[in-house]
Amino acid sequence: MSIISNCTASAIKNAASVLTSGDLVAFPTETVYGLGADATSANGVARIYDVKGRPSDHPLIVHISSHTQIDKWAREVPEYAITLARTFWPGPMTLVLPRTKLAQDFITGGQDNVALRVPSHPIAQALLIEFEKQGGLGIAAPSANKFSKVSPTTAAAVEIELGSFLKDNDQILDGGPSTFGVESTIIDCTQGFPKILRPGSVSIEMIENLLSIKLQPLNPTSNQIRVPGSLKSHYAPNAKVFLSGTPKVGDGLIALSNIKTPEGVIRLASPVNNDEYAHLLYNALRQGDTLGLSNIYAVPPNSEGVGLAINDRLKKAAK
Ligand code: TXA
Ligand code: MG
Repeated sequence: MSIISNCTASAIKNAASVLTSGDLVAFPTETVYGLGADATSANGVARIYDVKGRPSDHPLIVHISSHTQIDKWAREVPEYAITLARTFWPGPMTLVLPRTKLAQDFITGGQDNVALRVPSHPIAQALLIEFEKQGGLGIAAPSANKFSKVSPTTAAAVEIELGSFLKDNDQILDGGPSTFGVESTIIDCTQGFPKILRPGSVSIEMIENLLSIKLQPLNPTSNQIRVPGSLKSHYAPNAKVFLSGTPKVGDGLIALSNIKTPEGVIRLASPVNNDEYAHLLYNALRQGDTLGLSNIYAVPPNSEGVGLAINDRLKKAAK
């Protein structure tokens, strides 16, 4: 495995050809780092499951370079989904749509729908454009972590998490820390109205304002569609995570900056607002593990904007 920190045009060309040959490329996105394979290659995708240790019936997001590529992967795209795509792509949003034949069972977990995303990170964009130039149609990429663990927001975190499971030809592209820091908002667009399956940085308020509608409250247990992020223990570090109670000497603390650190407690992050909280959260959880902490206390922020996504991930990390 090689880590590419200088992502020049020729390095991106080379990374795209690694994907074309059926090998894996971990790459930065504005949400978290993804572990990419050619979305039409059964062998490439099988390697993703292998490296992550993820059950093979869990569907993957297909990344495309632009909304102009939707029709290759999806049929019957409702008007509201087109509006969402035009407004929030490229960006931290994934749309679940009825699939075309291109989205095979090994991508969709056998479901009749496919999850699509157009990432905005310049390296992800460049990689997708180059991959499509070389004849590729889409890059399947889950977050580049072991199944049920914390998503990586830096190339170093990908290396620590997956480095020993990657093969010689595989690559990790380093594009710096992910801006948003939590995974994309996933919206089910297979019915007459949108339904949020996973909250993210494209917030409920943003979607309701754009479409002039009121969304149903989040209810993960009622999902017909499989979203592994909705399993009980997910996004979990090795340390035990608490969302209430008082940290003791030697415990870790993640909280907004206006909350003081008790004596002897190790402050892992002091974000000034919800956006910064999301940006710092996963690295703070990882740092707690690096320091070998047994307990991490996180004070949940309010649910405004990305706050809902932070609360969702914290609840799962604490289970
Ligand atoms: O921000 C993100 O979405 C990142 C970056 C790399 O793009 N990717 C990511 O992928 O978080 P992953 O696999 O870690 O989480 C994707 C979630 C999973 O919970 C999966 O079950 C769900 O999306 N998903 C994928 N395809 C789906 C489908 N057809 N229907 C419903 N859920 C789907
Ligand atoms: Mg994931």
